[in-house]
Amino acid sequence: MQLKSIILALLSIGIILSCSKEQMEDPPPTSTGSYYTAEEIAILQTSLNLPSTPYPYTYILPSHLGNNSQPIEINRDKATLGRVLFYDPTLSENISVSCASCHQTDFAFGDEQKTSVGVFNRRTKRNTYSLANYTVFPSAYNSNSTTYFWDGRAKSIEEVIEESITNPSQLGITIEDYLGRILQRPYYEVLYQKAFPDEDLNKENIIDAMASFLSSMHSINSPFDEALEDIQAMPDYDFTQSLPDLSISENAGKNLFALHCANCHRASLFNEEVTAYANNGLDLEYEDQGVYEYTNEVQDQGLFRIPSLRNIVYTAPYMHDGRFNTLEKVINFYSTDVQNHFNLDQRLKTPEGQVKQLHLTASEKEDLITFLNTLTDDSSLTEKRYSNPFN
Ligand code: HEC
Ligand code: HEC
Repeated sequence: MQLKSIILALLSIGIILSCSKEQMEDPPPTSTGSYYTAEEIAILQTSLNLPSTPYPYTYILPSHLGNNSQPIEINRDKATLGRVLFYDPTLSENISVSCASCHQTDFAFGDEQKTSVGVFNRRTKRNTYSLANYTVFPSAYNSNSTTYFWDGRAKSIEEVIEESITNPSQLGITIEDYLGRILQRPYYEVLYQKAFPDEDLNKENIIDAMASFLSSMHSINSPFDEALEDIQAMPDYDFTQSLPDLSISENAGKNLFALHCANCHRASLFNEEVTAYANNGLDLEYEDQGVYEYTNEVQDQGLFRIPSLRNIVYTAPYMHDGRFNTLEKVINFYSTDVQNHFNLDQRLKTPEGQVKQLHLTASEKEDLITFLNTLTDDSSLTEKRYSNPFN
C-alpha cells in the first residue's frame, strides 16, 4: 500500500513516467533522434509494416503466477527479428509455408486441422501445438515442463526451432539455405544489426531471435486470471476456494476441474511437482506411441505430454492426433470412454485399480465447459506485436 502511494506520487510528478509496465528499454537514439535511420526505415517499409520504435516485449507476471517484481526480460530487437522470421514464407523450401501457416493467431497459435500441411503438401505427424500458452515461466497451467512437443522429445526451445525449420513436413529447408535466404533480404540486415550489432549472421543468433519472439508470448489475462488477481491469490492458492468474479456455473466447473483434472492439468498454481507426461487412456493400442517413439521403454508406450489448457476453446481439434473436434467430445471421453491401457495413469484409476469413468451429469459437463471458457485470453491473441508484419 505504502509503496503503491510512493509510486503514484512519483508518477504524478513525472519522475518515472517512461517506466511503464511493458516498456522498460529506452530507444537508442540515432543521429536524427529516431529509432531507425531514414535509410533503414526506407528498407523496412518496402516489405514490412513495423512500428517506428519496436514494440516492447518484456513483461511482468501477475502475482498468482509468480514473483511479479521480476520482469521477464525480452530483447525487443531480437523479438522483432523473430516475429518477421516467424511470418516469412520465403524462408521455406518452396517459399510457401511459414511458422504462422500452422501456428495461426486465430487458433491461439495452433490451427484447425487434425494434422497440418507443410511444404509440398506434406502432412505433419501430429496436431499442431498451440503456442499462445507457450511461455518461459514455469507455472502456467502445467506448462512447467522443460521439454517440448507432444512427446517431450525436444529439451530446449532452440532444439524445437531448429527442428521446425528443417523438418521435411514443416519448412523443410536446411539451416544453410535458411541463412542464405535471410542474407538475400535487405530488411533482415537492418533487423539483424539492431539485434546483434557488429555480429556476422549465424545460426545461433537467428535461433536466439526466434526464441525471444516465442518466449515473449504469454497469456495471462484470461477471466480466470482476473478472478485470481481480484482475490490477490498467490501461487499456493487453494484451488477449491470460490472466486467471486466467476458465475455459479463457472465456480462449479472449477470445483469439478479441481477434483478430476487439476492433478494432471495443473490449472493452478500449486507448487508441488506434477508429472509432465501421462497416458490418459485414449486407446487400448496406440498408433502413435508418444514418448515411447524415442525412448523405446515399454512404460512410455502411449504417454504424451499433459498439455496446457489455456485458450483451449481456440485450439480444437484436440489431443495429439486431433481426434476430438469439440470440448463436449473431450468431456464425454473422460466421462465414459477412458480405455484400460496397460500404462493408464493412476490418476484415472479407482483405488481398486479399475478405470475411473467420471460419469458426469449433463449439467456437470456444462459447468466444466463453462469453466474451461474462462481460460481464454483474447487480448494476448490479438496484440499487434504478435501479428503478421508483412501486411
Ligand atoms: C506444417 C505445420 C507447422 C509448421 C510450418 C511449423 N510448426 Fe511448429 N508445430 C507443428 C506441430 C505439428 C507441432 C507438434 C509436433 C510434435 O509434437 O511432434 C509443433 C510444435 C511446435 C512447438 C512446440 C510447442 C511446445 O510447447 O511443445 C513450437 C515452439 C513450434 N512448433 C514452433 C514453430 C516454429 C518457430 C516454426 C517455424 C520455424 C514452426 N513451429 C513451424 C506444426 C508446425
Ligand atoms: C492422468 C492425467 C490426466 C487427467 C486426470 C486429465 N487429463 Fe486431460 N490430458 C492428459 C493428457 C496426457 C492429454 C494428451 C493426450 C494425448 O493427446 O494423447 C490430455 C489432453 C486433454 C485435452 C486436449 C488438449 C489439447 O490441446 O488437445 C483436454 C481438453 C483435456 N485433456 C481436458 C481434461 C479435463 C477437462 C480433465 C478432467 C475431466 C482431464 N483432462 C483430466 C492427461 C490428463
